[in-house]
Amino acid sequence: QQQEKATLLKAYEFAAKFYHYIVGNTEQGRAAKGYLTARGISDKLIDTFQIGYAPAMWDTLVQQLEKRGFDLALMERGGLISAKHDGQGYVDKFRERIMFPICDSAGKVIAFAGRAMGDAQPKYLNSPESILFNKSRTLYNMHLARPNMRKMQQAIIFEGYVDLIKAWEAGVTNGVATMGTALTKEHASILNRNADQIVVCYDGDHAGQAAAYKSIPLLEEAGSRVTVAMLPDGKDPDEYIGQFGFDRFVREVIGASVPSMKYKLLYIRKNFKLHEDGDRIRYLQSAVKLISTLPSPMEREHYLKQLASEFPDSSYEAMKLDLHEILLQS
Ligand code: GTP
Ligand code: MN
Ligand code: MN
Ligand code: MN
Ligand code: MN
Repeated sequence: QQQEKATLLKAYEFAAKFYHYIVGNTEQGRAAKGYLTARGISDKLIDTFQIGYAPAMWDTLVQQLEKRGFDLALMERGGLISAKHDGQGYVDKFRERIMFPICDSAGKVIAFAGRAMGDAQPKYLNSPESILFNKSRTLYNMHLARPNMRKMQQAIIFEGYVDLIKAWEAGVTNGVATMGTALTKEHASILNRNADQIVVCYDGDHAGQAAAYKSIPLLEEAGSRVTVAMLPDGKDPDEYIGQFGFDRFVREVIGASVPSMKYKLLYIRKNFKLHEDGDRIRYLQSAVKLISTLPSPMEREHYLKQLASEFPDSSYEAMKLDLHEILLQS
């Protein structure tokens, strides 16, 4: 198994270099280069993230691997190529896709994410899990971000590869991304080992905001202090930067991330019609319930006061009584 792992690592390293070469130096790679340029991904970023292109043919990589004497059955088991349906030989798994190499924390390529340039489905095709690649333990860009997150004691989590790459260009170099899967306990514990504070910077759409809400307890149970960066109008970081630029992203999105409790209060608020008495009271009750989960009396007091100041018609004293009752019951 150790031998197989070593061989597979060599193959992934070769494939990443090969795809990267194609995007920068060949006729086949031109459209891909155009696509990346149009998305604002410069040559420098293409190099930093070793971005590549897998051409349209069926066996570009298979031929190269064969020529170099790699055991194709092992390559198939390792998720780098696919077996033909009739069982006779192999074909490339990734075709006509922009290739983002996924590295382990030491910077060795262990998988790929391949983005379709057009509307082909799926939009992102990921390598399957293998002896090298375990999704629930892998965070995209950990190898480049780790020294920076350690220095800053802050890590940022994005949803998308391109979001992270654009943020990097904005000078935000402590970011990682999950790969289309929900954040796991393992991810949370890896991040907690490298930084005290975690900023969750997911897409501003419903899916992204729901995922951010869900990630909070996971990260806090691992011991991290969590803040959430919010994006307007359902935008993702890439789209936000496209419209408002790098500076505003750094200052008004990352720099303005809010403590997890504040985010939770804002998040549940959307479910209530605050101008209706009944709903407003139910919101306040839910809000007080959330506040009651804070371990520190000082923090509870802080958010309770803030809540009371937002709803001058409802009394702070009543909220405090509600809070005490919840605390007594628990
Ligand atoms: P772009 O369109 O390239 O900007 O992608 P995005 O990052 O904005 O994609 P989106 O917000 O739709 O999804 C967020 C992340 O989920 C992506 O970066 C991928 O990691 C993952 N994802 C999205 N679509 C797919 C898919 O079709 N298959 C898989 N496996 N993952 C996906
Ligand atoms: Mn290069
Ligand atoms: Mn999304
Ligand atoms: Mn997105
Ligand atoms: Mn996007």
